[in-house]
Amino acid sequence: MSSPPHTSSPAPDVLVVGGGIIGLVTAWRAAQRGLATALVDPEPGGGAAQVAAGMLAAVTELHYGEQTLLALNLASARRYPEFAAELADVTGHDLGYRRCGTLAVALDADDRAHLRELHALQQRSGLESEWLSGRECRRLEPMLAPGVRGGLRVDGDHQIDPRRLAAALVAACERAGVVVHRAWADRLALGRGGERATGVVTADGTLLEAGRVVLACGSLSGRLAGVPEDVLPPVRPVKGQVLRLAMPRTHGPLLHRTVRAVVRGNPLYLVPRESGELVVGATSEELGWDTTVTAGGVYELLRDAHELVPGITELPLTETRAGLRPGSPDNAPMLGPTGLDGLLLATGHYRNGVLLTPVTGDVMAHALTTGELPEEARPFAPGRFTAAAQPAHPAHTAHPEIPAPSELSEQSA
Ligand code: GLY
Repeated sequence: MSSPPHTSSPAPDVLVVGGGIIGLVTAWRAAQRGLATALVDPEPGGGAAQVAAGMLAAVTELHYGEQTLLALNLASARRYPEFAAELADVTGHDLGYRRCGTLAVALDADDRAHLRELHALQQRSGLESEWLSGRECRRLEPMLAPGVRGGLRVDGDHQIDPRRLAAALVAACERAGVVVHRAWADRLALGRGGERATGVVTADGTLLEAGRVVLACGSLSGRLAGVPEDVLPPVRPVKGQVLRLAMPRTHGPLLHRTVRAVVRGNPLYLVPRESGELVVGATSEELGWDTTVTAGGVYELLRDAHELVPGITELPLTETRAGLRPGSPDNAPMLGPTGLDGLLLATGHYRNGVLLTPVTGDVMAHALTTGELPEEARPFAPGRFTAAAQPAHPAHTAHPEIPAPSELSEQSA
């Protein structure tokens, strides 16, 4: 078999596979540390960030059994102000970063009991949140339904516009000298008798060589051909349908902060942007690579959102879209070196990709420059799944069929 053609330029220190926000922040931070860095993705800045609402919700999105992840989420939340300021400064982009806080509300007795439990968990975890009566919730957000029975005010959970974040990271990478290959990575290239990752081969057969390869393809991270099964990340796609509506600018804001609820067991959030966009999300569906927007998904989101904020049915519905969260077996990301020499992971961020962007960039830059994970990221080493990892989805077979870019809207992380 003839070997694939090489690119003529010298091999970079690092090649990041995947140009979603996680791949981009990894490439940006690596380049800032002086590493010659390249990135491969057919559409850098695309991926799940094009769908995500952008809540920075370490406190309101806390779940039982995720205390370890909470520490990383909080570490990233603390970095956000400086991270956003630096990114805005180097690119001149407005990131839509709003330090507006979040209100999580309950509509019936079951939802209220659920919220009380969440409050207790937050308090046990030393997090700041304040219980409010229904009346106090409506005083903060007058457009809430009269039936709201109580809520949690969390002033530390903010938001950013993930589309703007992704565009700014593309610009930051360009300014930092990251070489971007607009191509589909087809398979991992191996050297030293299959014992070291040496680059990737793209769909047109070009070999892109690099000192190290970082796999950051979001929900597709488990599908790159050529990755040995024992280091293939156990990532699965978890579909989320999200709506976008337009709020009128004439009568003051419809909502002042992010509003969340669990409506009859379904998590719901409404994220109002300064631009006038209102993001309503999200379904959570285990349907493989399906990104169809369904009548049922849109109906349920609108039905629940209407129960929470009746006035939303007056608004123009401007967009419906589905994205794929990169789910991992413990809902936490996989960061850093794998058991294959030269191959690192930055994937599996599941519900927290936007929140975890700053800390992921720092962790990966540290791992790429020192070979070690910083203390805060040690619980997220990919090796934690090596012994126990079982295919959670048919995609996790040794040589999965890789979907063509046109079949998937979400290649990137
Ligand atoms: N973090 C919001 C979501 O995953 O829907």
